Amino acid sequence: MDKKYIAFFDSGVGGLSLLKACRDRYPQERYLYFGDNGNAPYGNRGEGEIRALTERAFEKLARYPIRAAVIACNTVTAECADGLRARYSFPIVGIEPAIKPAAAFARGGKVLVLATKATLASERVRRLIENNSSEVSVCLHCPSRLAGEIEEKIFCLGDIDLSVHLPAGKFDAVVLGCTHYVLLRDAIGKALGCPVFDGVSATVDHLAQVANICSKNAEKSRKKGIFFIGSSKNINKRVFFALNKANKRS
Ligand code: DGL
Repeated sequence: MDKKYIAFFDSGVGGLSLLKACRDRYPQERYLYFGDNGNAPYGNRGEGEIRALTERAFEKLARYPIRAAVIACNTVTAECADGLRARYSFPIVGIEPAIKPAAAFARGGKVLVLATKATLASERVRRLIENNSSEVSVCLHCPSRLAGEIEEKIFCLGDIDLSVHLPAGKFDAVVLGCTHYVLLRDAIGKALGCPVFDGVSATVDHLAQVANICSKNAEKSRKKGIFFIGSSKNINKRVFFALNKANKRS
């Protein structure tokens, strides 16, 4: 166990889904979470604005002892991962849309990719799709108001009418290319009637490699606290504990 933090950054509550998965897998580590909820959603903003907000957020994070950082936001990975990696000496892992496993699963069929406007417009994701779409047809869809609605209705997600946000049609797989949508994973899978893919578990695996985390004996180790920072720290803390409680009940 290292005394330094594994820092998570997202535009708001979405990254808590990834924090939960990492914490479940590596409970012995120390985590720090910064959600920029006041400026969410990022996904409809321009590239320059996303970069400026992210740089400001990382300047805050970098004041803490950081062992590795996780960009828990597909939009920020798409726009800023390369720049952040060039600037900071700690390893940085970024979540990305799970197009590769979805395409392998749905070979010969149709894959729906749900992501923000900025993610879908990025060069990085355009390349990811190009490299993985030779045997599937890929449909891109940006539910532009969904991340904002998730932020607003975070304690009553059941009130969100997904029919307003999802496209019509039949798909063989859907990729959740935004961590906010992962909070509605089951509901989206049910609404579309197909298997759901997201980048959560690949990011958890990648983090272990770059931060040299050992998952051996993780079950027996005591959970360390999570340090929430930023002006929305209380809300993010409440959401995180609500996610854990919901998981225990199911
Ligand atoms: N959670 C973010 C993502 O994974 C974006 C949500 C937003 O701020 O638009 O893309």
